[in-house]
Amino acid sequence: MTSDDKAVKKSRAINTMEKIEFLLRILSDGSFHSGERLAEQLNVTRSAIWKLVRKLKSWQIEIYSVTGKGYKIPGGLDLLDKSCLQKKLSHNHLFKQVDVFTSIDSTSDYLSRQWKSLPGVGRVCIAEHQSAGKGRKGRVWVSPFAANLYFSIGVSLPLGLSALGGLSLAIGISLAKTLNQWTNRKIKVKWPNDLMVDDRKLAGILVEACGESNDHSFLNIGVGINWNMQPEHASELEQPWINLKELSEIKLSRNQILAEVLIQLDKTLTGYLSHGFTEFLKDWNQLSAMIDRSVTVHLANSQVNGIEAGIELSGALRLETESGIQIFHSGEVSLRKRR
Ligand code: BTN
Repeated sequence: MTSDDKAVKKSRAINTMEKIEFLLRILSDGSFHSGERLAEQLNVTRSAIWKLVRKLKSWQIEIYSVTGKGYKIPGGLDLLDKSCLQKKLSHNHLFKQVDVFTSIDSTSDYLSRQWKSLPGVGRVCIAEHQSAGKGRKGRVWVSPFAANLYFSIGVSLPLGLSALGGLSLAIGISLAKTLNQWTNRKIKVKWPNDLMVDDRKLAGILVEACGESNDHSFLNIGVGINWNMQPEHASELEQPWINLKELSEIKLSRNQILAEVLIQLDKTLTGYLSHGFTEFLKDWNQLSAMIDRSVTVHLANSQVNGIEAGIELSGALRLETESGIQIFHSGEVSLRKRR
């Protein structure tokens, strides 16, 4: 019996989430574990193990159960490690505190709730699974367990709401530059907040802001990065998508990627506070997935076709249309369909 096993045995008051986490750590090695042995390790019945496994399956974790052999997660799991992340972010300026959840409704909603009780504390919330992950425009963000990366950063910045358009683009640029160091195909940015590779979506950003005054805002920056999404997870996705894992020949752990992304985002936000968007404009033009291409801008109740012509310093989109340059402060861009 390992010391972990003993700890579980000793503790009578272990709750369901702790049992799930313990079970996940055992099964994360990708080998078979018998139901009987698992029951012993968790100090529960075999039928309780079966119920826990059913819960894990509802989080879209693939688990084999084979009579006589037990349970196995094929390929194992690369789980998040809170203490490793907390240590790596200890030199951040704007957000150092890390909350890691095995499962949560939405990391962004969690931060909004925290903000109400602990306003002003910069923090990052990371989850293995989101039961109500949300995308922009009220869309669902599919969040299968440990398959991708889901996190939200909550910070209070001395910026008015009008400065936030550029900031949300700077976040996309920061992510693309950080991830591009590991990939063999170029990750680009699509206005306003997507990361794309060969016109397939790699990541999405959801920036929610509430202005507390004219010159101060609480920003809730939610990021979802596809890492190892499987077709069965993504059946309801409308857009073509791609995984970071298939773009990299280097063996990276999800903890390594997250730590580097979060360190660079902290630097980006700090840089934006000193210099604004100007220094990001060149990067945007170099990384833009749609510049000079024929696109459609989708607004709430209408669409406008044109050629994407870069962005303004405010972060607004410039579109060359038949009636001249039009500027958009919100909306979504897609490649224009040929008729
Ligand atoms: C989009 O492209 O529509 C934005 C997607 C943002 C998804 C992330 S995942 C972490 C955070 N929590 C959420 O519920 N949404 C964001």
